[in-house]
Amino acid sequence: MNNTINLSRRRFFAQTGFGLLAYAGLPGMLQAMQGMGDMPKMPPRKATSNFHADVEINLQCQPATVSILSGQATRVLQYSAQLVKGPAQTLTDIPGSYLGPIIRFETGQKIRINLHNLLDEPSITHWHGLHVPAEVDGHPLYAIDKGQTFVYEFEILNRAGMNIYHPHPHNTTASQVYHGLAGAILVNDAEERRLELPHGEYEVPIVIQDRQFDANNQLLYVRHMRERMLGFYGDRILINGRPDFHLDVASRAYRFRILNGSSARIYKLGWDDNSPVTVIGTDGGLLETPQHKPYVMLAPGERIDVWADFSGRKFGSQLVLRSRDFSGVLPGMAERMMSGGMHGTALPVGSDYPLFSVKVTRQVSDSPVLPQKLSTIKPYRLSDTANPDKPVPIAVSEGPMAMLINGRPYAFNDVQPYERIPVNTVQLLEVFHSQHGGHGMGMMGGMNHGKDSEAQGGMGMMMAMAHPIHLHGQSFQILSRTFSGNTSADYASVKEGFIEHGLKDTVLLMPGERIKIIKPFQDFKGLFMYHCHNLEHEDMGMMRDFSVI
Ligand code: C2O
Ligand code: CU
Repeated sequence: MNNTINLSRRRFFAQTGFGLLAYAGLPGMLQAMQGMGDMPKMPPRKATSNFHADVEINLQCQPATVSILSGQATRVLQYSAQLVKGPAQTLTDIPGSYLGPIIRFETGQKIRINLHNLLDEPSITHWHGLHVPAEVDGHPLYAIDKGQTFVYEFEILNRAGMNIYHPHPHNTTASQVYHGLAGAILVNDAEERRLELPHGEYEVPIVIQDRQFDANNQLLYVRHMRERMLGFYGDRILINGRPDFHLDVASRAYRFRILNGSSARIYKLGWDDNSPVTVIGTDGGLLETPQHKPYVMLAPGERIDVWADFSGRKFGSQLVLRSRDFSGVLPGMAERMMSGGMHGTALPVGSDYPLFSVKVTRQVSDSPVLPQKLSTIKPYRLSDTANPDKPVPIAVSEGPMAMLINGRPYAFNDVQPYERIPVNTVQLLEVFHSQHGGHGMGMMGGMNHGKDSEAQGGMGMMMAMAHPIHLHGQSFQILSRTFSGNTSADYASVKEGFIEHGLKDTVLLMPGERIKIIKPFQDFKGLFMYHCHNLEHEDMGMMRDFSVI
């Protein structure tokens, strides 16, 4: 198969001289990618009698219709939930949104969730950011069919922070999330409560997504292989599932809990008056001290906790949170294509556009003060790791056929020696681009073998793109981020926007970067995925399993 494809690819290149992105538009390739690797099925997990839940939720995923744009309602997929047991504030619906209810947990609570699948396809839910046992982490192995119920039972071991719930079935995660299946989980704890941060109406969850609609207000999704390779980009921004979102605020401090729930789109968040973005937390909860950034890069799967202080602002004044200009996250050719030309979207990646606006409609005289000390995080050092000289590689490579990690596409039961991690160890890992397919196999093998270095170099340059790499299980710390690329103007447009401190579970890898991270693998054995959180990439195979043993 490889030979045929290589041959026809070469011929195609030769004929058109147009390169990989055009090649990727061939529908045959789309088919070749489907059904990659089979996933065995497990019987749905049932409740255990010795688990005494403090909180119990019934959660359904199902087709629904929601009125998003004016005119015809939009067909979506949606989570809905009912509280069986637990505090009333556990579930909060977002009115008029396709997003699932906001779920609030408290550290130490024991949780039971009965997931009932009412979709016409298999699904399973993952608790992105939560540290839970492997069998209730939402591995695609546990996907359930229509009509089945899967019972999750776990204790909240996480500290306070914002997490995500979303589906994680084999090869269909992107499409299920895109069509609406996602929601926010806010964990609270005593340390956070002592800070008396803005809460109630002053704490606003903000889920940023981009979508495309057809003339009948129905969601459009991937039509070309190119849209999977680059990831799928919408041409309009929805905040909490609503278009043209705006917020009326009082002249005081707010806490914005921001989550990038997009498939592929990376944002460079900045205020339109150029005031700094004050970040108090990231994926894994509060930072030690607030960080004042000119802008913040937020990739799919990442969260930031923003202190947004409107005190001193006049009645009627407006502020807009925008995504600012940047470049270098897509291959150069794709960046140009997306900003006009063949398939120009109305919202080119890296262009400057508004996300939502805030208007001061209430003058108040006092406001909470930003705490200078938020939390204490024990920093991991190299000497804490089991492998200080031999980082576990996470080498991403991208090609027209597949998105790979360490040269391999996702396959069940394909755990490599370096993917076997002893439980209760702390590991050093290194995330970087490999243009050589890492350990040298997989569907790109044919392309990367030969002495065809011209094609290889060209391909590396043409295809290098940014990938938000997510690791399931416990949060990690960033040890170092080094850049050795040569397109430094691109890099200069993003590099002030990374939050290097604090706890992360998703890290944006830019072309030319190497990122060393330190991550604990405590408490639970079993399979824990790691993958690109560009959801199209994930489904194309840029995902692997760690087997914690
Ligand atoms: Cu948010 Cu494995 O995903
Ligand atoms: Cu990716």
